Amino acid sequence: MSFIKDPSAAASGLRKIDWVKSNMPILRSLETEFLKTKPFSGLKMTVSVHLEAKTAYLVTVLASGGAQVFATGSNPLSTQDDVAAGLATYQNVEVFGFHGASASEYESHIEAALLSCPDIIIDDGGDLISLLHTKRRDLMKNVRGGCEETTTGILRLQAMEKEGALSFPMIAVNNAMCKYLFDNRYGTGQSVWDGINRTTNLIVAGKTVVVAGYGWCGKGVAMRGKGFGAKVVITEIDPVKALEAYMDGFTVMPMSEAAKIGDFFITVTGCRDVITKEHFPLMKDGAILCNAGHFDVEVSRSDLEDICVSKRERRNNIIGYTLKDGNTLNLIGEGRLVNLAAGDGHPAEIMDMSFALQALSAKYLAEHSNTLKNKVLDVPEEIDRFVANAKLKSLSVAFDSLTEVQMKYLDSWGQ
Ligand SMILES: NC(=O)c1ccc[n+]([C@@H]2O[C@H](COP(=O)([O-])OP(=O)(O)OC[C@H]3O[C@@H](n4cnc5c(N)ncnc54)[C@H](O)[C@@H]3O)[C@@H](O)[C@H]2O)c1
Repeated sequence: MSFIKDPSAAASGLRKIDWVKSNMPILRSLETEFLKTKPFSGLKMTVSVHLEAKTAYLVTVLASGGAQVFATGSNPLSTQDDVAAGLATYQNVEVFGFHGASASEYESHIEAALLSCPDIIIDDGGDLISLLHTKRRDLMKNVRGGCEETTTGILRLQAMEKEGALSFPMIAVNNAMCKYLFDNRYGTGQSVWDGINRTTNLIVAGKTVVVAGYGWCGKGVAMRGKGFGAKVVITEIDPVKALEAYMDGFTVMPMSEAAKIGDFFITVTGCRDVITKEHFPLMKDGAILCNAGHFDVEVSRSDLEDICVSKRERRNNIIGYTLKDGNTLNLIGEGRLVNLAAGDGHPAEIMDMSFALQALSAKYLAEHSNTLKNKVLDVPEEIDRFVANAKLKSLSVAFDSLTEVQMKYLDSWGQ
């Protein structure tokens, strides 16, 4: 039995699912194939990914493949209640979660989605894996393996693997080229600005935007900030990435300096305590703060709560914290992923690629799990190439292939 907030909101959720479906051609073709071949026949799957329309469509595609799917969110603020309600109307799908769940409610939703003792899991950020390997080990008895969606989840899995703690194989979907090159860079680049713009309704042109972290996501956020006409400043801890940002034309400096000049601050590091009480008093009145990294630990909300003299809601999804010097700093979406807590997440065409990788990696697990080690595994290269080819085909983009002579030339080492 699903556990959702408002079943009567299903019509709105179904409209959203229908919209993304019409913009996700690779998943549509997989749905058609899965309906015929039923690769997940008799399997139970638990999916914990941001519970919005694109994820909902992925869940229905897995169900078309014969799975019984138990879906839950991967962040309490990204769950959309109408989508959860719409998804719960599908056959062989149960949904657990609602927007704004407390930490303990959020955990109980993940637990509920695991109670069936799934065969395959799909995780986003590692909360599901972590619960299975700690408090609810009893629920992992059937798990053949799983897939992880994001950078932070993979860091957690690698730490588990290093300690010999990982009890089944996990495919690192994030590390597929068709994931991080597009989802992390172009998806985050666009959706983070969508979240900021729709929430603040402020001009970006001419402003100073500070992006913390110049990884795949940070590059996208910086590139799009530049496109809006902002002066973009990068903070980094990796000398190579700092140099890359510099050569890409951005200004690089420590956060203690950037704090003094930024109008917008966007953290996207996967680290913690990137902006703290050391930095807040240096900031300009009206500065906008947000985070796009997986967890809400990059902009320290607890430090803001500690040092503010008052706080008030300024707009939907923005809390203004006034400090003792009278300056007010504005935090979007409680410092949770701004593109999901204050937006609809990545564009559907981008998630088409990420979720095609998820669906095909899950199929790979269903077929090969008995030969896989309890490690963090790469997405097989043929899946990555299949997704790239399918995307190009859906875009009607043709490209060249090697002639036999060229292949031979590239394979040879003599004259
Ligand atoms: N918002 C979204 O929709 C979305 C999408 C994909 C990934 N993510 C999350 O975003 C985060 C970053 O992902 P990524 O793929 O860009 O990772 P990445 O590893 O490619 O990049 C992270 C960068 O942050 C830098 N960094 C680490 N600690 C730092 C610090 N204290 N100060 C400044 N820089 C620091 C690293 O050197 C690295 O260059 C992760 O938490 C990931 O899960 C979010």
